[in-house]
Formats: sequence, C-alpha cells, structure tokens
Amino acid sequence: MVSSVADYRLAARRRLSRLAFDYLDGGAEDGDALKRNTDAYKQWLFKPRVLKDVSICSAATQFFGREAAAPMIVGPTGLNGLFWPRADELLAQAASRAGLPFALSTASTSLLEDVRAAAPQGDLWMQLYVQQDRGIAEDIMRRASAAGYSTLLLTVDVPVHGKRDHDTRNGFKLPLRLTPKLIADCMMHPHWSMQMARSGSLQLKNIAKSVGERADLSRHSAMLSRQMDLNLGWTDLDWVRAHWTGKVIVKGVMSADDATLALKHGADGIVVSNHGGRQLGSTFAPVEVLPGIVDAVGSDMTVLVDGGVRRGSDALKAVALGASGVLLGRAPLYGVAANGLAGAAGVLALMMDEMLIAMRLLGCQTLADLGPAFIGNANDVVNHGLHCRT
Ligand SMILES: Cc1cc2nc3c(=O)[nH]c(=O)nc-3n(C[C@H](O)[C@H](O)[C@H](O)COP(=O)(O)O)c2cc1C
Repeated sequence: MVSSVADYRLAARRRLSRLAFDYLDGGAEDGDALKRNTDAYKQWLFKPRVLKDVSICSAATQFFGREAAAPMIVGPTGLNGLFWPRADELLAQAASRAGLPFALSTASTSLLEDVRAAAPQGDLWMQLYVQQDRGIAEDIMRRASAAGYSTLLLTVDVPVHGKRDHDTRNGFKLPLRLTPKLIADCMMHPHWSMQMARSGSLQLKNIAKSVGERADLSRHSAMLSRQMDLNLGWTDLDWVRAHWTGKVIVKGVMSADDATLALKHGADGIVVSNHGGRQLGSTFAPVEVLPGIVDAVGSDMTVLVDGGVRRGSDALKAVALGASGVLLGRAPLYGVAANGLAGAAGVLALMMDEMLIAMRLLGCQTLADLGPAFIGNANDVVNHGLHCRT
C-alpha cells in the first residue's frame, strides 16, 4: 500500500536497476544540494487559522491564462525511457488527466509530436537546451510550436553537466554497454531488464529528429553533454523570441540579480531552481532564496520554483512564500518508474489530495487566501525567539 511519494520512491528503487535508480534519484558530488532541497521545506512551518468555512476548497489556479487544477507542473526530465517504456507519453497523459501542465525535456526519449498525440488536450510546455548548433534549438522550437506547446522553458543552469559521482561509479554512459557490473545489476532487477530489452534501445528522439539524422544515442548524448552553447547570454532571449511566439520562462535562476536580468530581457517568468541538486553539488535550496527573488520581481513576472517538493503541502509552502507554482521533478518519476501510468497518476492524485487536506487545515478555501502570514521559518524561531511574538 503506497501512501506517500516516499513509498513510490521505495517501489521505484525495488524495480529499477541500480544504475537507473541512481540516475533518477541522485544529486551532484556528495548530494548536499539535493539533501538541502528537501530539508529546506521542513524548515518552513505553517501557522494555521481556525474556525474558517472550508466546506468548499479548491487549489485551482492559472498559468499564463490557462486553467490548472493545482499550482503544480510536471517538470522536464531527460531520458525518461530508462524508467518505463514511453514514460514521456505516460507522464504527459497523467498530467493532462490531472489538469496539470507537463513540460517535455529536449533530452526526451519520445518525440514531442508523439507526446502531443498522447495528451491531445494537455497544456504542454517545451524545455530547451541550447547546443552550439543553434539550428537544433530553432528546429525544436518550430516543431513544438507547430504541435501546440504553449510555453518554453529555457534551461540555463547546464552550461556543462554536473559531476555525478554515482553515475561514474555505476559506469553510466550512453548508449548503455553490458559490462559485468550492469549484467549483475540487470539480473537483480529482472522485470526492469525484460521491459528494457523488449522496448528497444533508448534514443534521444527529439534531438535526433531536429539534427535530421537516424537517432544515434552515443552521438546525441555526447552532443548534449559536451556541445552546450557556452556563449549563451541574456541578450539571446531576443533570439529565442524570434523563434518562439508563446511564453518564455528562464529555468535555473538562483539569485535576485539574475531574476531582475530575466525581467529586463523580457522573460515572462522564471523557475527558481538548482536543477534538483544535480548540477552544483553545494548550493542554497531554491525555497531558501525564493522569498528574496519574489521581493525583487514577484509583482512583475511569474515566479515558479522547484527542487525538493515531495508533498502537496510543500507546494503550498512555496505558494505562501510567493511562488505561482512548483515544478515536480523526481516525484512523478518515482511514480512512473514504480508502475507506469498508474504510478504517475497515483503520485499526482496523492499530492493534490495532500494539498487539499493542508489547505482545509490551514483555513484556506482558495490559494488566494494563502500568504506569508501562514508560514514562518524554524530558524527564525530558534535565532530570534519569534515564537514569543507570533
Ligand atoms: C532524472 C532527471 C532528469 C532531469 N532532466 C532535466 C532536463 O532534461 N532538463 C531540465 O531543464 N531539467 C531536468 N531535470 C531537473 C528537473 O526539471 C527539476 O529542476 C528538478 O528535478 C526539481 O527537483 P526535484 O527532482 O527535487 O523535484 C532533471 C531532473 C531529474 C531528476
């Protein structure tokens, strides 16, 4: 019986090979940023109000004028086919059925057109990595626009790939090669191994299609890891605008100064994010820097946040701190890795349920009722004795 995202995580760990699970679950270097991301939510504590009418309660919101059932977006994650065949399609379907947007990674293992076909009514967002050959990004923008994707997430925190020690130790390299270690790993996880064998080799299909060649995973994953455009700068938002007419969100902002630059250069929004602790090994958690960034730009642009959201109540904390919503990275991945579409849908339903329970317990009927008065930081209590005054 699963009753939390943590339960789905354990189920995913049992099913996946060590190599696949560590790729999903791990962080950069010693995992300090990853751990801090989840711990930071525990430092923010609710201050509920009571005896409020909560007979009606809704977490519904809007992203850029489109309705969403809750302030959550299924975030972009690459190589999802490593966890379950056609996982991108399944995640998009689960999100669409739950009334949430889904963001597809440039490094997806499904074609963006196939994801659209799997979720014809869904609010789909496209995540963009910009490689040295700008023609690839331009073609992905053109295709995503033609397929009706509403919003572009320009990821800016991956000029190079973070140092992920677990992947090195596991010999994680694309395409996967059958080393004695991987064979032993596969034998310990027969269901995953059989499924992977049946579904054929993993391919970064979007990139391959836009390069205009047969999908060659080793070539295209090398392109992704070594051929990022290191010259990408703020003025390139003009170049993005020339190829994308929808909304543009800059993903991977961790300072108020960069948030201000994003606003100045015409971004419609930002995602406060450290890439789930997978890039720099040691950073503040996004939810720690969120209040300062909301102070700087929150009234002028959409501020989203991700990293460490494992409960519906975590999403509410982010909203109370001024975010318009959160992106979910690993949480739905644990679901899809544990049990395909049912697992992904299960995680989203669970988190939405947790959110509504917490809203009622806080005395909030809608997200508009929620604000800074409902939240405080445990460190302030310890350091300044705020409990005497609240
Ligand atoms: C397995 C995995 C793959 C990811 N791939 C991408 C990607 O291709 N593009 C991107 O912008 N972010 C990527 N991310 C980062 C997520 O979009 C998101 O920022 C992060 O996972 C949020 O943290 P959380 O996992 O704690 O929720 C990836 C994250 C994971 C866990």
